[in-house]
Amino acid sequence: MAQRVLIVVGTRPNFVKVAPVLAELARRPESFDCTLVHTGQHYDDEMSRVFFEELNIGPPKHRLRVGSGSHSVQTARVMESIEPVIEGERPDVVLVPGDVNSTLAAALVAAKLGVPIGHIEAGLRSFDRSMPEEINRIVTDSLADTLFVHSPEAIDNLTREGAPLESIHAVGNTMVDTLIAMQPRIERAAVPEAHGLRTREYVVVTLHRPALVDGPLLADAVEALRAVAREIPVVFPVHPRTRGTLEALGLDSSPSAAFRLMEPLGYIEFLGLLAGAAGAITDSGGIQEETTFLGVPCFTLRDNTERPITVELGTNVLLGLSPERILEVPALIDAVRKRARQVPPLWDGQAARRVVDVLAGDSPRLGFEPDGV
Ligand code: UD1
Repeated sequence: MAQRVLIVVGTRPNFVKVAPVLAELARRPESFDCTLVHTGQHYDDEMSRVFFEELNIGPPKHRLRVGSGSHSVQTARVMESIEPVIEGERPDVVLVPGDVNSTLAAALVAAKLGVPIGHIEAGLRSFDRSMPEEINRIVTDSLADTLFVHSPEAIDNLTREGAPLESIHAVGNTMVDTLIAMQPRIERAAVPEAHGLRTREYVVVTLHRPALVDGPLLADAVEALRAVAREIPVVFPVHPRTRGTLEALGLDSSPSAAFRLMEPLGYIEFLGLLAGAAGAITDSGGIQEETTFLGVPCFTLRDNTERPITVELGTNVLLGLSPERILEVPALIDAVRKRARQVPPLWDGQAARRVVDVLAGDSPRLGFEPDGV
């Protein structure tokens, strides 16, 4: 009988992480019967629908429409509304990606119902519990039975917290699977040209983490970005959370030719801009990984990262939670680009296949050596 897999997504990065897993499960219909649940944590067209369309994710069978709210309210709403879904679907395993409130809530409910949990992107730690995502990661990993990891330090973090070795599987990075699969379409879209930009002659910015955008630091960041834009054009698709603070603080967010604020972009358009950029300034987790794969210098406005491999092997530089350091970026770009770099092992487009192999009962793999070694 086919194994029943229930996958829970809620936010923009979740869609990117599960798309290749859904595709791989669909290639093995005799072995797997997959159900997709969308919690509705992200609900705007440009935060959700466009990703389903571009990444060719079929419509979710269940839409929970939880929307926004405080962390507790959002988590509680997902818990309440997903419980009957899991009870009704009776899956053999619930798969949750990443570290958002929907991830935590779905894992808690599955655990209470005694359904085994697989966590995609397990073991990442910033060691900063003031980040809501860190709490979500720790709790989700402690509840999960199968831990899919994409970098070696995740194995250390999990074993230190007592996870049994046989529950940990080095599979690689499903977000990079998506990027590799979409690369031809991204290139064909010629996004920088479509925006009237010249390749390697502009900087892409994304900011959305509470530590930066929920308070006064955002004003300093915008001022520093305006200064950078006098040297090199700045393209800034604005997350709804950030847009809210810009408006609440009455900040001047009027765009100009060199400082372009815009609505959130779809996957192809955003990755097209990122791939052609001279550099990225961000506080996102996923973009630290995507720039590492693409070889684009990334300047991260955080004091820590749960993705240290992007600093050790990739093109990521931690600037700290210090908006004034944005002013240094134009002068740093060339040196970072020239630095020797490597794509982390197993970020090779095969991670989803390994995830599904593990679900199918293949033996665990702890090492990051390439397949067949
Ligand atoms: C969430 C995740 C974060 C992830 C990010 C990706 C948590 C704790 N945080 O942060 O880890 O990196 O998604 O984007 O789960 N909003 C809209 N339209 C939408 C979605 C949100 O306007 O489609 C607004 C909400 O009303 C709210 C704000 O954006 O005011 C924040 O949304 P929320 O989902 O709570 O958290 P994010 O900041 O997006």
